Amino acid sequence: MSKTIIVSNRLPVRIIQEDNSFYYIPSEGGLATGLSSIYKQGDNLWVGWPGESVKKEEDKEQIRADLRKENMTPVFLSKKLIQNFYEGFSNDTIWPVFHYFLQFANFDHKLFDAYVEANKKFCDAVLDVASEDDTIWIHDYQLLLLPQMVRKKLPHVGIGFFQHIPFPSYEVFRMIPWRKKILRGMLGADLVGFHTYDDMRHFLSSVSRLAGIPNSRGRIEAANRIIEVDSFPMGIDYQKYALSAASPKTIDKEIQFRSSLGNQKLIVSIDRLDYSKGLPKRLEAFEQFLIQYPEFQEKVSLIMVVVPSRDNVPQYRELKETVDLLVGRINGRLAKLNWMPIHYFYRSFELESISAFYRMAHVAMVTPMRDGMNLVCKEFIASKLDKTGVLVLSEMAGASKELSDAILINPNNSEQMIEAIHQALTMPEEEQIVHISLMQETLKRYNIHHWVKMFMNRL
Ligand code: F6P
Repeated sequence: MSKTIIVSNRLPVRIIQEDNSFYYIPSEGGLATGLSSIYKQGDNLWVGWPGESVKKEEDKEQIRADLRKENMTPVFLSKKLIQNFYEGFSNDTIWPVFHYFLQFANFDHKLFDAYVEANKKFCDAVLDVASEDDTIWIHDYQLLLLPQMVRKKLPHVGIGFFQHIPFPSYEVFRMIPWRKKILRGMLGADLVGFHTYDDMRHFLSSVSRLAGIPNSRGRIEAANRIIEVDSFPMGIDYQKYALSAASPKTIDKEIQFRSSLGNQKLIVSIDRLDYSKGLPKRLEAFEQFLIQYPEFQEKVSLIMVVVPSRDNVPQYRELKETVDLLVGRINGRLAKLNWMPIHYFYRSFELESISAFYRMAHVAMVTPMRDGMNLVCKEFIASKLDKTGVLVLSEMAGASKELSDAILINPNNSEQMIEAIHQALTMPEEEQIVHISLMQETLKRYNIHHWVKMFMNRL
């Protein structure tokens, strides 16, 4: 019987080894929730890296057997591949280029070779379980070569590819020395999806200008196949966030947090540590806001949650130092005995604490320099059960295309960001309710389950 195989760099669980046992921590991410309706059914499968390097053959066997019961197949990566493929080409070459941070891009042949090797490993793992009548859905920038690798071995299999990060303009993409190989890799798919229309347009422009393959209305006519390209904006599990915001545990957390923070207004900001998220510019804008509008000192604080990420990549380590210094400088300059401008947490929180932050916040600041979609802004909106609150959102986030009821800003425009904070904190409640209600309607309808259905139906 035909089956569906999901492939992504990470599995929806992460292994932890303690003493001589393995523990499997499920991912809280939206993708894992959305795709659980697919991979957990019948013979369907999810193929991916379990997040650690495992050396011993007997341990690998054990993990394979454990994960098989959950419809997952692990791809084991050596320490060297993790370094050169995951930290290297994926996050030190593609990530910066695709987010327009060219100054950070490392164009090193050794890293590209590791990327090819890792994509081959994923291909072998897929071929071990796939047959021609299956449907394969490959995810994201770590696996751009995989569609073509699989296509070569299984010419008639259905392959979908979805990219979760931006696709840059042709002028930027063409700087990558291996640009044609990357495009050819992606074109192994039958359907290529992006979050936004702009990403899709950039991809089509690169295909026609670099690979010389024309397209019309999102259809690429390659030698003997038609490849469809379209935008599928990803949603969140709306119910999960709405229910969590109403849960007794979240409300207890809110009471606990409120008793420490008092009655002041709150701005929330939650991101992975990443230079694409615009953390320094957001901090500087908040500092300048407090200086230009001193009446807000002691009346508003920023709760800034930064989740550790990719800390073996040099730029991420440097960013951590920059953020630490900035927070220290701003708090040192403006704090009063009874008030701290920024409450900074460099760690992750359980869902109920995040929901409590969303509930308490008058404003969410989601101001990335560039972001494929950004789901935090959608989670904030879904958590606003009383419909009050204001979203300040970067126009560089894919989500801004759907959430035009937010206050949209350009993160490079510090004056605009300062004014947006002021506007958000002084917006009348009736106006907040109108905007939040409209955004909630959109997000309820275009949720993660809708996204999965749209892509799979099209594929
Ligand atoms: O946004 C792209 C993405 O790969 C997400 O899917 C993922 O949640 C995030 O980046 C972090 O990725 P990782 O921890 O695997 O580097």
